[in-house]
Amino acid sequence: MKKQIQMNDLKNAEVINKRRVINGVDDGLMQVAPLKHDFADKIFKVMLKNNWVPQEVPLQEDIEQWNRPGFMTEQEKRVYKRSLAFVSNLDGIQTGNLTTNIVRHITSPEVSLAIVRQAYEEALHVHSYATMIEALGFDPDEIYGMYKVDKELYKKNKYVLEAVNKISDSNFKTGDTKSDKMFLEAAIGNIILEGIYFYSAFLNFYVLRRNHKMPGSAQMIQFINRDEDMHLRLFIEIVNAIKNENPEIWDDEMKEIAKKNIIGAVEHELAWGISSIGEGILGLNHENLKDYLEYVGDLRLMAIGLPKHWNKENPFPWIDEITQGNMIESNFFESTVREYSTGSLEWE
Ligand SMILES: [Fe+2]
Ligand SMILES: [Fe+2]
Repeated sequence: MKKQIQMNDLKNAEVINKRRVINGVDDGLMQVAPLKHDFADKIFKVMLKNNWVPQEVPLQEDIEQWNRPGFMTEQEKRVYKRSLAFVSNLDGIQTGNLTTNIVRHITSPEVSLAIVRQAYEEALHVHSYATMIEALGFDPDEIYGMYKVDKELYKKNKYVLEAVNKISDSNFKTGDTKSDKMFLEAAIGNIILEGIYFYSAFLNFYVLRRNHKMPGSAQMIQFINRDEDMHLRLFIEIVNAIKNENPEIWDDEMKEIAKKNIIGAVEHELAWGISSIGEGILGLNHENLKDYLEYVGDLRLMAIGLPKHWNKENPFPWIDEITQGNMIESNFFESTVREYSTGSLEWE
């Protein structure tokens, strides 16, 4: 959607009251004071506090451990490299996806700002993986190009890209039921990408760390995870706001698509995970991996108002301590959409 300054007779309060995540009035000027979508501003402010750079993370011990004969098994090294390959592919896809597919359709400036900050963070993550690849002396072709020889990784990347590319046509625009549903599906695709795929890859680094292996890598992943956690929250809010603002598109067909996509992602993730860990590493096995992914899948279903599908317990409750890095107050998401009385803006 080409954005241009729109001259109109609306008072500022009316413009803000009409503000919508998609298909809203957009004067193209990024007026974010006052706000309509408070959630985006809250998330943006947390993101600003999460500043970090990969160079801060010490990888010396990881280099020493990786090269110490017999310290890590071949299977552990394989899991490490496959996880690194996948997350680096995924962040690369996501950086482009946000900037070329998603943000151009957003008509709420505060939501746009949060997505732009997210895109910066994804670029930082791409840079982080490059730092790890260089520090550990890996062949970049082996990591970035692993999908060419790893069938499960190829299938998973293909599945992610197909979901992302549904709205990549430069002629695609929102504004009718069919295209709005496609955009909503793409936004749910972001929840899947941030909240299912990344979480399972991160698990492998945390399992190694709990066994005192590759601590610098786990710290890097923890920084990335803290960012992804906010990305996930941002897109859960975006999806729910689009649903509220366009209730007609959240019909049975759309709910079925959302459910099918989340279940499909969990299944793809499990197939890849099982092929990665082989017989299992360090207490991580087929069964608890399956339970974990299904537990995470249920969280994502519930976050967008769908019932649980699997009803599994979290087999790795210790992960919460690692990933709840933002210390979000409990009422963080009890945000309401504001209504300003026309002509008298309330600046809280
Ligand atoms: Fe990322
Ligand atoms: Fe992300």
